[in-house]
Amino acid sequence: MCGIVGLIGLENVTEGLVNGLSHLEYRGYDSAGVYVDTPGAASFTVKTKGRINDLRQEIEKTGDVTGFRGIGHTRWATHGKPKTENAHPHTSYNGRFVLVHNGVIENFKEIKDEYIKDEWLQGETDTEMVVHLVAKIAEEENLSAKEAFKKALTIVDGSYAFALADKEEPEVLYVAKNKSPLLVATGEDFNGVCSDALALIELTNKFVEIKDKEMVTVTKAGITIEDLAGQAQEREAIEFSITANDLALGTYEHYMLKEIEEQPAVMRNILANYVNEQDEVVVDPAIVEAVTEADRIYIIACGTSWHAGLVGKNMLEKLAGIPTEVHLASEFGYNTPLLSEKPLFIYISQSGETADSRQVLVKTNELGYPALTVTNVAGSTLSREANYTMLLHAGPEIAVASTKAYTAQIAVLSILANAVGMQKGITAAQNFNLKNELSLVANQMDSFLNSDHHLQTIVHDMLLEARNAFYIGRGNDYCVSLEAALKLKEISYIQCEGFASGELKHGTIALIEENTPVFALITAAHTNLQTRSNVQEVESRGAKTCIISMEGLEQEHDALVLPHVHELYAPLISVLPTQLIAYYATLERGLDVDKPRNLAKSVTVE
Ligand code: F6R
Repeated sequence: MCGIVGLIGLENVTEGLVNGLSHLEYRGYDSAGVYVDTPGAASFTVKTKGRINDLRQEIEKTGDVTGFRGIGHTRWATHGKPKTENAHPHTSYNGRFVLVHNGVIENFKEIKDEYIKDEWLQGETDTEMVVHLVAKIAEEENLSAKEAFKKALTIVDGSYAFALADKEEPEVLYVAKNKSPLLVATGEDFNGVCSDALALIELTNKFVEIKDKEMVTVTKAGITIEDLAGQAQEREAIEFSITANDLALGTYEHYMLKEIEEQPAVMRNILANYVNEQDEVVVDPAIVEAVTEADRIYIIACGTSWHAGLVGKNMLEKLAGIPTEVHLASEFGYNTPLLSEKPLFIYISQSGETADSRQVLVKTNELGYPALTVTNVAGSTLSREANYTMLLHAGPEIAVASTKAYTAQIAVLSILANAVGMQKGITAAQNFNLKNELSLVANQMDSFLNSDHHLQTIVHDMLLEARNAFYIGRGNDYCVSLEAALKLKEISYIQCEGFASGELKHGTIALIEENTPVFALITAAHTNLQTRSNVQEVESRGAKTCIISMEGLEQEHDALVLPHVHELYAPLISVLPTQLIAYYATLERGLDVDKPRNLAKSVTVE
């Protein structure tokens, strides 16, 4: 989703801003812009619909765009179409203030009606209301930028990360945040702001976290944080462990393929972080105790993370013996089910910033229920606001389509389930040698990824002309089918449904016609024959089928046989070919693998 970068103090901030924005490209965006200025010299606003490369070209066309201070933005349209007028930064009607914003201003109509004149508006964004509002307050009430900004923040409702430049104070940036992520970056002879540390990691690894309803004054010399009542807040910078190398593509053409191939290493990294030298699974005892005390677990997540939750439920029920429900965050928030007496909430989120999940967390925190966040991003909002965190240790995931985070989420949930099961003396956990089984997964992932799997040919035969497709399976294979279908549709734009194979005949089989592609996942002995008979049902109605089975269950004519792993871990292997199918189908169609249309990596609006 939208990205913010701001810098102050460098001899010329323009390259740092544009480079920073390019590191935020993965979040998804449709337009971009920068504002830069220097005390006593010219100021520049350059913005455009399109990609960062288009912005670079616009900057070149403009000529000597240099400055001591600047703010930049990538926009993912919420209010108003993707077009240059709607791109940020936005300038106030009197030309004094320049603003970039992430989030959604919920009361923008009210602000417009009460404070804004139609002739001030250049585009259709909610953000524009705020920059005009600040200017109007400053002008009419004769307030400093800081006071006017602070007053405007008491009027604004919604989610925001703002960076504001006042042309009358060229040595300061003002920033504020509510619900949208924002970090202040601290460097040797500069300071900055960003919505994601990746934006400025090439310049510094020190970042200060900003909390909701705080405002920060950023100068070259330092930063001061205060709440909206003016109370100063002291906070140390944290050193982030990600490095510029984590952003490098190396020899890969796409982040998605790089991240798919990183999965064996991620499994080993998870083992290194959660298993000790005595081969015991080690989870923070406070987390184990909190989960053990719960009478029911509620997993809350969205998209791929929700799919990982479905697999995690099986593990928590089988290994830890705790009934587990898995809910879509966007549904749970508005249609809360009847809760058990001692619930525990697990929030699964790669980014740790997803607004739908966060709104549920805010609610469960208010109700006083314990919450554990399983995330890839230390210090993310969901991590900070939950009682406990378990990290994925997967390294930054840049491709919009999530791959390594999905398998890491499942692996980390298995670690939690095993630790709780051991604590409770559950036989299934005692009999499950997690270290061996997960190490085997890592090795089998390697052997599959390095094998001659012919997936490019399979994709060519099955999907070249396809407008729609199906993945089918039962149990965990059904859970993976849902994820497989999401992966295929989100990047190749082939409409695809993941379906419980036994359910097809209750309606959906009507969609099967000559050459409809149907992929079947078969990794469990107890559903092998049942799913195969469902495959026959669709074949006899003309479907083109592709069976992906697991060693030991294979039959003649199966298109792909996956190396064997423990049944509980089958999703970690069976998802790999489906990730590659999505990848190759997208390449075959000449589409942008890493940045599919309309999508954002970190979905920070509800
Ligand atoms: C799909 C994908 C999304 C995310 C979803 C939740 O490939 O990446 O479906 O899984 O937006 O995001 P997080 O996990 O960051 O909460």
